[in-house]
Amino acid sequence: MEVKGIVAVVTGGASGLGRSTAERLVAAGAKVVLADLPGSDGDEVAKAMGNGTRFVAADVTDTDQMNAVFDAAEAMGPLRAVVHCAGRGGPIRVVDREGNPGSLETYEMVVRINLIGSFNVLRLGAARMSKNEPIDGERGVVIMTASVAAFEGQIGQIPYASAKAGIVGMTIVAARDLASHQIRVCTIAPGTFDTPILQRVKPEVRETLAAAIPHPRRLGRPDEFAMLAQQIVENAMLNGETIRLDGAIRMPPR
Ligand SMILES: NC(=O)c1ccc[n+]([C@@H]2O[C@H](COP(=O)([O-])OP(=O)(O)OC[C@H]3O[C@@H](n4cnc5c(N)ncnc54)[C@H](O)[C@@H]3O)[C@@H](O)[C@H]2O)c1
Repeated sequence: MEVKGIVAVVTGGASGLGRSTAERLVAAGAKVVLADLPGSDGDEVAKAMGNGTRFVAADVTDTDQMNAVFDAAEAMGPLRAVVHCAGRGGPIRVVDREGNPGSLETYEMVVRINLIGSFNVLRLGAARMSKNEPIDGERGVVIMTASVAAFEGQIGQIPYASAKAGIVGMTIVAARDLASHQIRVCTIAPGTFDTPILQRVKPEVRETLAAAIPHPRRLGRPDEFAMLAQQIVENAMLNGETIRLDGAIRMPPR
């Protein structure tokens, strides 16, 4: 599907990979609604993007708030693409140093935001798309964001790895399920990307992370994620797949 002229929603669009994806889609001629938490920089970021980009404050786990995001998008035209980038970590150990079991509350919180939030965005976005007129045999495309932690979660990442693995598991089922609606679903599993999370860590830590990537030996640039998201929108044969975007890194245990 051509990006020019389509309406897209980007969650987590106020920062990092989501922001970069929104910038690229806007530059390619899409009309974009950014969804992010109320405390985020969404308003300023949307204004800086221009081309009528709008910010709607929403928690991806909240149905009413996400419906308000999709309403704002449909006010601009039929919703054709959703790029779901909102997510966060929250480390726990299965058993801590004192022998206590890991926090069930933290586990639930991280799974809720990353996994339940992804299903919420997928189902609400796809329901809107299912009512679109097809263009070149397709009604829309949903792109979700996992992580290489879905495959090689590191010590401490048990909730995050569980949630991201759930997103990987959802991808083929969702693509099969939505095929009759002519809606595609793909997932991007990034390695280590240079987003605000990593921009806050010490230079030595960033260098160590970069050195662990076989080639290219540097952190991923957010626009490299955005390029793949754009290609997934444009390439109708990409469907039901999780694509690792990681410079061949395989994460060690810690
Ligand atoms: N940066 C990396 O190296 C990396 C690697 C693997 C996976 N990822 C995944 O990529 C995605 C984007 O990460 P990023 O590095 O751009 O992080 P980021 O923190 O820069 O951006 C994430 C955005 O999501 C928003 N968000 C968090 N919870 C939300 C919620 N409940 N509802 C709405 N918005 C919410 C945050 O406010 C933030 O603006 C995440 O899903 C993350 O797990 C990132």
